[in-house]
Amino acid sequence: MTTLIKNISQALTLQSAFIKDGRNLDAIDLSVIQDASLLFDEQKIIWIGKKSELPAKMKIEKVIDLEGRVLTPEIVDSHTHLVFAGDRSCEYVSRLNGVSYQDIYKEGGGINLTVKSTTAISSDQLYNDAKERIERISSFGVGTIEIKSGYGLSLLEEKKITLVIDKLKKHYENHIQIFNTFCAAHAIPPGKTSTQYLNEVVWPLLEEFGNLKIIDAVDIFFEKDYFNHAETDELLIRAKKFSLLGKIHADEFNDNKGAILACKHQALSCDHLLETREDGFKALANSKTVATLLPGTSLFLGKKFSRARELLDLGGKVAIASDYNPGSCHFDNLIFLAALSAPQYKMNIAELWAAITLNASHALGKLHQGALVVGMKPRFSVFDTDHFEMITYSWGKNLAIPWKQLI
Ligand code: NIG
Ligand code: FE
Repeated sequence: MTTLIKNISQALTLQSAFIKDGRNLDAIDLSVIQDASLLFDEQKIIWIGKKSELPAKMKIEKVIDLEGRVLTPEIVDSHTHLVFAGDRSCEYVSRLNGVSYQDIYKEGGGINLTVKSTTAISSDQLYNDAKERIERISSFGVGTIEIKSGYGLSLLEEKKITLVIDKLKKHYENHIQIFNTFCAAHAIPPGKTSTQYLNEVVWPLLEEFGNLKIIDAVDIFFEKDYFNHAETDELLIRAKKFSLLGKIHADEFNDNKGAILACKHQALSCDHLLETREDGFKALANSKTVATLLPGTSLFLGKKFSRARELLDLGGKVAIASDYNPGSCHFDNLIFLAALSAPQYKMNIAELWAAITLNASHALGKLHQGALVVGMKPRFSVFDTDHFEMITYSWGKNLAIPWKQLI
């Protein structure tokens, strides 16, 4: 069925950003069309342009009237850990009182604390809690959400979490696209070495889920006291056997050369990058791997920000994601985070929008969304304003209009 979206006050097409592969962007690369119309079917965008230029002969079976609102490519949150139970508010307070994230982990808190609460509840309860979180995130205009496993840390519990994510993916189908990332290598459970844990849990589950084709990518926390260079390397090599690409939590607390390793494996993304130096940025700029910045984590943990401007100037492809999780960023509003951090990162407006649409889609290997261009997937976000500047200017105010409300 063909649907015409009419009365679009502004369409942020990102056409020029798309042509430039999301790099070296100037404000003009937003490619805004005033007074636009867009025609699409289930698979693709068929036509987009000024409403006055819509060809007369187009077959139109349905019309959606935006009543002068703004249309953008769909907002994508490419890094979340939203399947969890319990809270770590006490750790937030401890950090304010001077204890570091790393020390909290070493003392038995951190990810292992969330593992205790997550493994204590049923998969139905986990599923229902995650659904509530997904619906809240979707209410901000986000239509594609990546979800990582990693709060089970045993064979049975990691399996339970990945299957919960799979059930969520099937439940939302195309309405909200869920991307299932296998991140069992998130931390090391007490009493085990990393080698034991990988051999007993991560490798067997990767084999099982890889064969079942349930997971979309793999991820690992490559950091001192978690997993090392050789282990990260091995995960990404093993994943290729199932045609799965990797993502890496890299260079968060130390420059462990995670960005370089990610590029070597043509990983989908490497994320955090607070400590990455010039060699890592250069590797990223010369690769297809997306550099995903997580400003919420810097703010939540009181850490510095990534040196985004340096990376952008080298030609890196940069995304921003929420990292929504109970420990290092208990916050889920991606547009707010992007608006808040863009001035810190010294991003221009096209870099900001590409970071949460086009480049965030690429961080999930979704190369056919993220721009309003003929032939691309029809995935949009709609905002209740007639000029797009309001969206990132109105901090904390949710201007998104749920797609369901329009059709
Ligand atoms: O991306 N770094 C590893 N994983 C999360 C933190 C998870 C947690 O603290 O519960 C992150 O920051
Ligand atoms: Fe994370």
